[in-house]
Amino acid sequence: MTDTSANIVLGDKKVEMPVKKGTIGPDVIDIGALYKNTGAFTYDPGFTSTAACESKITYIDGDNGVLLHRGYPIEQLAEHGDFLETCYLLLYGDLPTAAQKKDFDHRVTHHTMVHEQMNKFFSGFRRDAHPMAVMVGTVGALSAFYHDSTDITDPHQRMVASLRMIAKMPTIAAMAYKYHIGQPFVYPQNDLDYSTNFLRMCFAVPCEEYKVNPVLARAMDRIFILHADHEQNASTSTVRLAGSSGANPFACIAAGIACLWGPAHGGANEAALNMLQEIGTVDKIPEYIARAKDKNDPFRLMGFGHRVYKNYDPRAKIMQKTTHEVLAELGHKDDPLLQVAMELEKIALTDPYFIEKKLYPNIDFYSGITLKAMGFPTTMFTVLFALARTVGWIAQWAEMIEDPQQRIGRPRQLYTGEAQRDYVPVSKR
Ligand code: SDX
Repeated sequence: MTDTSANIVLGDKKVEMPVKKGTIGPDVIDIGALYKNTGAFTYDPGFTSTAACESKITYIDGDNGVLLHRGYPIEQLAEHGDFLETCYLLLYGDLPTAAQKKDFDHRVTHHTMVHEQMNKFFSGFRRDAHPMAVMVGTVGALSAFYHDSTDITDPHQRMVASLRMIAKMPTIAAMAYKYHIGQPFVYPQNDLDYSTNFLRMCFAVPCEEYKVNPVLARAMDRIFILHADHEQNASTSTVRLAGSSGANPFACIAAGIACLWGPAHGGANEAALNMLQEIGTVDKIPEYIARAKDKNDPFRLMGFGHRVYKNYDPRAKIMQKTTHEVLAELGHKDDPLLQVAMELEKIALTDPYFIEKKLYPNIDFYSGITLKAMGFPTTMFTVLFALARTVGWIAQWAEMIEDPQQRIGRPRQLYTGEAQRDYVPVSKR
């Protein structure tokens, strides 16, 4: 939908470009013809002012702390729905009817097993390999197991690949965990819901019956909802760019997992918990706050700040509530890490530096405390983030593939290297 236009004057050239309006949120200036008409590129290395695509899936208002999935506020989805309902919403655009939900849940449940050969694939890794390294490897290898759903031009195969990914990520994540701790793999059980099934695959052992605590299953499910999708973040943009070349969906998701692993992105939950453990006690907080402000110190408060949220991350509020619920249920409400986290948050939110830089806790600040209390090692935190984000990556990938304007992503550059020069023989260097 174009409404007005924007003019760029460059030297003796004046170019008028269409301005497109979205349903809500910032307008965009369509600069597609800029290079052709002016010979110049735009320059925006961190994409702070660049819309890379048009999307109908997720909307974020960073100034007002708003997160909508297909128009529904994250607070309402987390309160009233479950993760598979959010998956359906992200994939198909609307909340499912009871019949649609029953069918979708049944289809996902009956894709949770992985090919038995995958078990042998794990045995190639060292036991102490980081579970994220195992996830990148095994998810990338899925295209070697599921050739019948890699033709991205076939809508049916796209749907099958999407379902397989959503269904198998919990199984693969649990296998990565079990392999890491030297315990046997636990098969999924079709009479359990998605999050209960996942927790059972992680924590059950063959020697005895294992009953998942329903409070923890509900908390896990809500954590998955909170991490499901988040507009064009770094890992989603990676999936879109990989997919724009026509690469198969399993390879694209593996690329997204690799990008998510970075401590500035999905790796922040592991880094945030390690930071809280390093701080250790409330009296050490001022020292770390000072380090976070020190330009000469690379230290940052992990779990704080966000490229888009310049107000409170709405997910962090729900995450904080879930943290208290889980710790109360497990009898850890006096967990020293939680005391440090709450005091750190209180101090940071009143400190002029953080106020001026608009640094608020993000989703990663509280998730680590919760996951640790649930029994996960810190090395599994980003694996759980990747498990949940898979539906967002898949929904965004499918939207891109189905976009008639879709073409391979190929950014340009500002070149500041050497101008052309002639080869110098080694005898003359
Ligand atoms: C996720 O994009 C998404 O949507 C991501 C995500 C998702 O769901 O996909 O929401 C998930 O990745 C959440 C973010 C998790 N990362 C962290 O918690 C790591 C710590 N945070 C920072 O590294 C940082 O805030 C980022 C990476 C999150 C955002 O980086 P930006 O937008 O590039 O901001 P910046 O690095 O330019 O910082 C702006 C200023 C800088 O100071 P000046 O150079 O302007 O003087 O704020 C300072 C920074 O030094 N700053 C911090 C800080 N974060 C930014 N100072 C101390 N501690 C911090 N955490």
